[in-house]
Amino acid sequence: MTLKLAIITPGGDAPGMNAAIRAVVRASLKEGWEVFGVYRGYQGLIEKDIKQLTHRSVSGIIHLGGTILKSSRCQEIKTEQGLKKAVSTLKELNIDYLVVIGGDGSIKAAEKISKYLPVICIPASIDNDVYGTDETIGFDTAIDTAVEAIDKIRDTATSFERVFVVEVMGREHGFLALSVAVASGAEVVIIPEIKYNLDKIAKKIKQDKQKGKSSEIIIFAEGAGNVEEFALKLETKTGIPTRVSSLGYIQRGGSPSARSRILASLFGEYAVKLIKERQKNKVVVIQNNKIYHLDVKTVIANEKQIDSHLLSILESLG
Ligand code: F6P
Repeated sequence: MTLKLAIITPGGDAPGMNAAIRAVVRASLKEGWEVFGVYRGYQGLIEKDIKQLTHRSVSGIIHLGGTILKSSRCQEIKTEQGLKKAVSTLKELNIDYLVVIGGDGSIKAAEKISKYLPVICIPASIDNDVYGTDETIGFDTAIDTAVEAIDKIRDTATSFERVFVVEVMGREHGFLALSVAVASGAEVVIIPEIKYNLDKIAKKIKQDKQKGKSSEIIIFAEGAGNVEEFALKLETKTGIPTRVSSLGYIQRGGSPSARSRILASLFGEYAVKLIKERQKNKVVVIQNNKIYHLDVKTVIANEKQIDSHLLSILESLG
């Protein structure tokens, strides 16, 4: 039976999304299925912005950041009416499966669509905040991008003997901040999951200074609060010049790392395997280096936890 698939990348773009699109398209065409691309995320689905994809559509994209299908922040999909419009686009085209490549928010919306049409989700987000998977597509690349910037900040921090508070992305979670902190050799990490103690941080920084340390890097997850306020309070307590550097959207772009490309290819190929088995409403995950799948309902009903071992490494090596 010739299945018809639609692929969508509805949330924050992540490096490697194109590699995942490529894998789903190529594996599906090999099965003799038809594949459609939904442009501009859920807004495009509501507005019927959908085109058939071919083998050539995904040539030369594995190394490109962003998503060739574009995305959007769509509020309408959260309404009953918007959801119905999105589903009717898929029904009109006799789409059998919707493949959703995205993060936490995209998967939550996919679960709503799954009441009307089967979905398969591929976790892709620089936040790495999807429950049940050790890693999301783009996370590895975002770490590399942030660490490269922080290594440069460390140079000027050392030259001026300053404290730098570097704000990184991650929405309400600290997964990106924690991995970036360990990889960049930061002295402190501040994440939304753990309430920070300003006095304790100030004491550590003053002690480090007395021991002759000439720079301090504090990684501050954007969801942990107001980074400027934090830096001002810290400088007041320590008397040591403190600066803020917010990395912002560079963390979302760039050519995907080899690891992100491999993960994307594995996830995309596995998603097509699930569809071949007529499995429905699953999220593709990687656990202890094994590709597997979980029910969408299980993923959205649970909150991913911080890796306490990674946190302890930072404290013992910082
Ligand atoms: O979810 C990915 C992400 O980059 C978050 O880390 C960040 O908080 C958010 O998207 C920014 O959203 P927008 O692109 O809509 O500004």
